[in-house]
Amino acid sequence: MKKTGELYAGKAKTVHTTEDPDLLVLEFRDDTSAFDGERVEQLARKGRVNNQFNGYVMEKLQAAGVATHFVKQLSPNESLVRNLQMIPVECVVRNRAAGSLCRRLGIAEGQELTPPVFEFFLKNDALHDPMINDSHIATFGWASEHEVQQMKDLTLQVNSVLQALFANGGMILVDYKLEFGRFKDKIVLGDEFSPDGCRLWDAQTLEKMDKDRFRQNLGNVIESYENVGQRIGIQFE
Ligand code: TMP
Repeated sequence: MKKTGELYAGKAKTVHTTEDPDLLVLEFRDDTSAFDGERVEQLARKGRVNNQFNGYVMEKLQAAGVATHFVKQLSPNESLVRNLQMIPVECVVRNRAAGSLCRRLGIAEGQELTPPVFEFFLKNDALHDPMINDSHIATFGWASEHEVQQMKDLTLQVNSVLQALFANGGMILVDYKLEFGRFKDKIVLGDEFSPDGCRLWDAQTLEKMDKDRFRQNLGNVIESYENVGQRIGIQFE
């Protein structure tokens, strides 16, 4: 599928149009951002690693019955996806306390969360992705009540699939963020799933293996992403 133009450049991916209006090419770049784009660095191989990681996870989710935008990988750092009308909210599920939950509520990092916590955030870097709830989504018309319910159900369905996948590789899925969009009136998982948008800890040592390595200057960021991928069965090109 040939790229026909650049539609949008995000912090870590560039979206290209194709000859088919229903299909886009996602190009995963080496740019790595944190703190809502306040810090950006290029990490060698990151685009390739996240593209292949995302393709592998999206295929697992599709096999488990979760509709995703993923069509196929086109090259080490590009994938073909369906052109969704994106909903500007981020869906976060937390199985253990970390990150902003600890800062907001004074909870100790690592506390097990049963049942898992579900949160919505508004996708808006300038406002630092503020937390929102169903009422804001309804009032401002970001999604319908039915779509809100579908996003919650799908995000929790993803949790059971991916907790098991990472547990088999000796890791804990601490938390993650998903984004959804509409494709022909159906709610479909979009964006990406990679160690950029989730937290993963080694189940034995609790070592951080995700983007917190970048946020907290722990080093070996991409080596750690590759290690996570290899543990769940990915053979990187
Ligand atoms: P938080 O602890 O910063 O709220 O993030 C929770 C999880 O969601 C963590 O795995 C990072 C991910 N996330 C993003 O990737 N991008 C975002 O904009 C937000 C709000 C969270």
